[in-house]
Amino acid sequence: MKQDLSTVPGPIGVFDSGYGGLTILKQIKETLPEYDYMYLGDNARAPYGTRSFEVVYEFTRQAVEKLFEMGCHLVILACNTASAKALRSVQVNDLPRIDPARRVLGVIRPTVECIGEITRSRHIGVLATAGTIKSESYPLEIHKLFPDITVSGEASPMWVSLVENNEANGPGADYFIKKSIDQLVSKDSLIDTVILGCTHYPLLLPKIEQFMPEGIQIVTQGKYVAISLKNYFQRHPEIDEKCTKGGNTIFCTTEAEEKFTESASIFLNESISVQRISLE
Ligand code: DGL
Repeated sequence: MKQDLSTVPGPIGVFDSGYGGLTILKQIKETLPEYDYMYLGDNARAPYGTRSFEVVYEFTRQAVEKLFEMGCHLVILACNTASAKALRSVQVNDLPRIDPARRVLGVIRPTVECIGEITRSRHIGVLATAGTIKSESYPLEIHKLFPDITVSGEASPMWVSLVENNEANGPGADYFIKKSIDQLVSKDSLIDTVILGCTHYPLLLPKIEQFMPEGIQIVTQGKYVAISLKNYFQRHPEIDEKCTKGGNTIFCTTEAEEKFTESASIFLNESISVQRISLE
């Protein structure tokens, strides 16, 4: 049987192409520690950032269906690329068919909502995957709320691979991190705020801080996604009551367990156990 259509409450699903969503999970767990979580990293098929719309949509749909099957009623796409390229399609095309009572949320809107309070110059930059930048999701969402803000974007295609290959702290990372930052800030000298619009990027934060020009604020998403989820539960008690509260987290990956366990334990600073699953 493909889908679990039961009404039995379950954990909150958190999905990413790989390890990046752990930066979101960590913050959500700090804000909402009482809930149960099920993290799914599609590490075997990461990165998503350079893939076509059709492929990102297909992979994301498979992951969402899997998390539903495994008992989640609410899934957070803790991946900007999936939020930009697949969220709307999953909500419109797939949820009505799978189960209209289940929910899928993304990470772009909660990030964008905070930006008006942060920038003073009203010029901001976005660093993200090629897919997210090409989708124009950030400028489109920002201009819906803050039409006066000028947005410049820069794709940093190598950054996700640095994280997925455990090279975040290696000397090779410096070159690619400096290059993308320099290219972004050269587009608009008035930028005072840069959104890290990819959930992998906070795992490169020490180096990003090192190369970001002084006076530019770096915005990471986890805190804003967590606050937004807390508000969501207050506005939607019918979804809240379908999320179990036991303080447990289950980790799943499409790659080898050992690889995920080793890297995720470093990123989360705690030892975890993980189960391998297949999405195809
Ligand atoms: N962490 C994801 C994002 O926020 C995906 C990166 C990738 O797989 O390219 O965009």
